[in-house]
Amino acid sequence: MLTSKLTRRYRAAQKILTARKQGHLLRFWDQLDPIARGPLLDQIQALDFDQLDPLILTHVLAKPDKIVPANITPAPFFPRQPAPDQQDFYKRAHRLGSEAISQGKVALLTVAGGQGTRLGFDGPKGAFCISPVRNKSLFQLFAESLLANQRRYQRQIAWYIMTSPTNDRQIRDFFAQHDYFGLSPDSVCFFTQGTLPAFDFDGKLLLAAKDSLALSPNGHGGTLLALKSSGCLDKLAHDSVQYLSYIQVDNPLVSVLDPVFIGLHIADDSEISSKSLPKIDDLERVGNFCTSDGKLMVIEYSDLPDDLAHAHNPDGSRTFNAGSIAIHVINVDFVQCLTQTGSSLPYHRAEKRVAFIDAEGLHIEPADPNAVKLEMFIFDALPVAAKSIVFETDRPEEFSPVKNAMGPDSPRTCRRDMIRRAARWLRLAGIELPHNPQGEPACTLEISPLFALDTDEFLARNPQLPPIKMGDRVYIE
Ligand code: UD1
Repeated sequence: MLTSKLTRRYRAAQKILTARKQGHLLRFWDQLDPIARGPLLDQIQALDFDQLDPLILTHVLAKPDKIVPANITPAPFFPRQPAPDQQDFYKRAHRLGSEAISQGKVALLTVAGGQGTRLGFDGPKGAFCISPVRNKSLFQLFAESLLANQRRYQRQIAWYIMTSPTNDRQIRDFFAQHDYFGLSPDSVCFFTQGTLPAFDFDGKLLLAAKDSLALSPNGHGGTLLALKSSGCLDKLAHDSVQYLSYIQVDNPLVSVLDPVFIGLHIADDSEISSKSLPKIDDLERVGNFCTSDGKLMVIEYSDLPDDLAHAHNPDGSRTFNAGSIAIHVINVDFVQCLTQTGSSLPYHRAEKRVAFIDAEGLHIEPADPNAVKLEMFIFDALPVAAKSIVFETDRPEEFSPVKNAMGPDSPRTCRRDMIRRAARWLRLAGIELPHNPQGEPACTLEISPLFALDTDEFLARNPQLPPIKMGDRVYIE
């Protein structure tokens, strides 16, 4: 009985795959353990060829033109420090943002579905331990920041975490093993993003094993559809949450809920807002905030034409200077609107190395890119919004991501920047620190988010510490 059902499913799958010229996916059927056959058919059945076939034509067999509009100009932004005539507006924004958080209108959203290949860490990136003294994980630091905000605003604040099918179980287990880092488990909602197959350059789907397809997460732009399909969007609306504070999993300095940023977003009637930083050099590997025909957009560093990347204003300043650090505030209404028809954001093509099973059944680890992966990016929602603002932030205070195993944006630079920020706060509080000849702190410092979330809170707590000596390891909680 069971076998005949499986045989029927096999024949149905074979028919579809043959029609779509992907019959090779069942090439090893006869060699498969019967237990492995069902899951392979599940993966095949989940493929939406009406969506995939046009994408194969436009994004795999062809390379879509990276069209940068001819008339782009640098995007306007709210400066970190308000100009004299903006001070009242910023004060109002601070009040509006704080009220929205304390009224439960804001939830935290972290995208953690990425594969973190560049870091070379065998596990979900959020579980990577980074803090300089206590070696806390990224997830623990965000959780403690959220706890500190809950204390500040005297209420529970929901945390939505997007996982991928590959790391979902590991992330859930990590939180359970650590008792949710003190958060109430019912305030943490995990939801899983969608996947897409990897294709070879002839448009054929790749097998990762004889009994499974090579699938990968569909990009952080997949957040929108995943919020809807998981039911989280309904839950947000049911709980009267109006704004999502969106952060990536890789930046431990991020302010998880910034009342001024949230307030500017509300005061300006924005649908999706973004934080920016002045770039450190013309070619810094961050997206660039631009406008075209009145629409805000992010143009990735790899797509910004060289002459524009190197363009400078008459006063010597860089023309396209506002870099995207992927921190956003997004209206729940806007997500509802974008996902109503089930349509998605555009796809971006990336050529990657993807291990696969060849026609002889051999496992191949290619040395060069052999496959096309397709991903959606959240910032492609910006030009669709009726209104979208940018707020500049301060790099040393808020941005030092962990992306690479070595070099820039690595654990070493990130820990260094965490220590530098702590040193700055301590010096502002009048505490003397040993330093080396280059002016770097000659001690290891860590300030728990539960002690202070920002400079003002740190100073208000008036920290009292014994003298700090060269080589000391100091943890302030
Ligand atoms: C990203 C931005 C870049 C920005 C930089 C700031 C893109 C294409 N670029 O670069 O403009 O300047 O961050 O740090 O996004 N993720 C998922 N699911 C996925 C893919 C990614 O949840 O399918 C998550 C990751 O877990 C991570 C975040 O998205 O939290 C960023 O992904 P990553 O691919 O590392 O982006 P970057 O290329 O570093």
